[in-house]
Amino acid sequence: MCGIVGYIGPRNATPIILDGLKRLEYRGYDSAGIAVLTARGVELRREVGKLHRLQTLVENEPLEGNLGIGHTRWATHGAPSRRNAHPHLSENGKVVVVHNGIVENFLVLRDELAAEGAQFRSETDSEVIAHLIERFLSRDTGLVEAVRQTLRLLKGSNAVVVMSALEPDKIVTARLGNAGGIVLGFGEGEMLVASDLPAILEHTRRVAFLEPRQMAVVQRDGVEVFTLEGEKVALKPTVAPWDPVAAEKGEYRHFMQKEIHEQVRGLADTIAGRVDFETGRVYLDTLNLTAETAQRIRKIFITACGTAYHAGLVGKILIERIARVPVEVMVASEFRYADPLVGPDDVVLAISQSGETADTLAAMEEGRSKGAMLWSIVNAIGSQAMRIADGYISMQVGPEIGVASTKAYTAPLVDLYMLAVLLGDLCGVLPEGERRRLVNDLRLVPDLVGRVLEREDEAVAVAKKLKDIDNCLYLGRGINMPTAYEGALKLKEISYIHAEGYPAGEMKHGPIALLDEDTPVIAIAIQDPWYEKMLSQVKQAKARGAPVIAVATDGDELIPPVADAVLWVPPTPWLLSPVVTVVPLQMLAYHIAAMRGLDVDQPRNLAKSVTVE
Ligand code: F6R
Repeated sequence: MCGIVGYIGPRNATPIILDGLKRLEYRGYDSAGIAVLTARGVELRREVGKLHRLQTLVENEPLEGNLGIGHTRWATHGAPSRRNAHPHLSENGKVVVVHNGIVENFLVLRDELAAEGAQFRSETDSEVIAHLIERFLSRDTGLVEAVRQTLRLLKGSNAVVVMSALEPDKIVTARLGNAGGIVLGFGEGEMLVASDLPAILEHTRRVAFLEPRQMAVVQRDGVEVFTLEGEKVALKPTVAPWDPVAAEKGEYRHFMQKEIHEQVRGLADTIAGRVDFETGRVYLDTLNLTAETAQRIRKIFITACGTAYHAGLVGKILIERIARVPVEVMVASEFRYADPLVGPDDVVLAISQSGETADTLAAMEEGRSKGAMLWSIVNAIGSQAMRIADGYISMQVGPEIGVASTKAYTAPLVDLYMLAVLLGDLCGVLPEGERRRLVNDLRLVPDLVGRVLEREDEAVAVAKKLKDIDNCLYLGRGINMPTAYEGALKLKEISYIHAEGYPAGEMKHGPIALLDEDTPVIAIAIQDPWYEKMLSQVKQAKARGAPVIAVATDGDELIPPVADAVLWVPPTPWLLSPVVTVVPLQMLAYHIAAMRGLDVDQPRNLAKSVTVE
């Protein structure tokens, strides 16, 4: 996952930045780079692979200067290579940019710039930012205003750090959404900027975090913060804890809350390097999948536990709809005892955050013993489920510390979507136009999730209403039925409130008897193919006196009159909607548990890695 470090002050920026990047290595990356303003002007050093390679390059070609920015990159647009690594320069080499996130409208912006004669040196979306800033600067605008005008043109959740040889007294940085934060470090006559706290803690513990849609002008002796609209914002630095684990929590109270917010960045990294938005193709190299193998597959058995199982339920709909390959989803603890009809032309696909869950591994073994091909979608690099599989997809969301899984739920949803597109393509069942549309929709995902996260206040307000309940029901249909299961699981495991996820259409066959004014119903009723049915379900629950909380699409006018509260989500292509609709439910569960004063990150009786049957 991308990391950023910047420095301005009296010391040589180079070792401070390289050391900061080292402390972000745990996030994962495939290339790294640094830009320093030296006596010769802005100089870049960039290298593919691990940071020690960049360090060797810098030892051989040293950089000395008091202003610099550095970056570790997970490839999104364009393969890992020196020229695609950050920082990126503008055409005249005077503006330098590092960037986390995805510029959703970069193709349009790049085409406009190219029509004006711009020459690009990389395939990245980030480079357009440098070009745009240069254009605005050339219109007699200062750096701060040029950055502000550029940011106004960018769509998506992005974090940007900029320096320029033309105004060497400052770094300008901004956070456009939730694609990773920006933390500012206040030193003695020096300032640091980073994507994550551990990068700067060695130099200062006085820190402040930017909110979405804020930008900061960082100078040696302090910082000014504005909204993107130019309004000045008062910044209150706080003192960060020394404890490296606590420090990793950054601005958040619990890991779970941090991990919920990390989903924007995690999803951008999930897509990173795996899709080509121009050709509309998906690349999942570690799956080792050829067209011949894809066409041979008779059936895919998805097996997993808990949250990962819910991801599998969404995966079934995605793979069957997009690739037309039959899928069966089985709870891993049942798999080996069910004597499943698995054979050599089948795939057993295990989904596991830890990659060490005993039941999931046993299901994989069962598949192996019956001659099936084994795939896994795993977060923990090098774990057993990754090692024993014939092919795997790694989740790219970084370590998940909170016991309740959040970012390791949304990432596999996107992995399964990409897998479905790849399979559909290799099996020849996906027309080109449809494939391009499906791939194009992926670009929207990080920002859509970011927009939900910006509405945490709505989840807090609902949490206040629900924090003392004893029971509740989550209802969903179609592709959001698993969202109902997952929402209920999140609530029960961290708040100890009894919650059931149910297919909404099943209500009338029994559970409707439970409804009364003390049993709230949480209904996922977004604008998807099941909307009308869900609307009628909401009305039925309301008629039984149950308080209704609806997850609904912005602009819906039929839901508010029949719901007691609404958790709004932006319009989303329905096949990707479970990635978005689960987010308010994660926040709701988190805030209810936090309000109840519970140990959110380590709920009673639960372990992060379940290595026993
Ligand atoms: C719930 C949760 C669990 C895990 C399950 C599987 O929030 O985290 O339900 O999803 O124990 O764990 P992994 O994914 O490590 O196999």
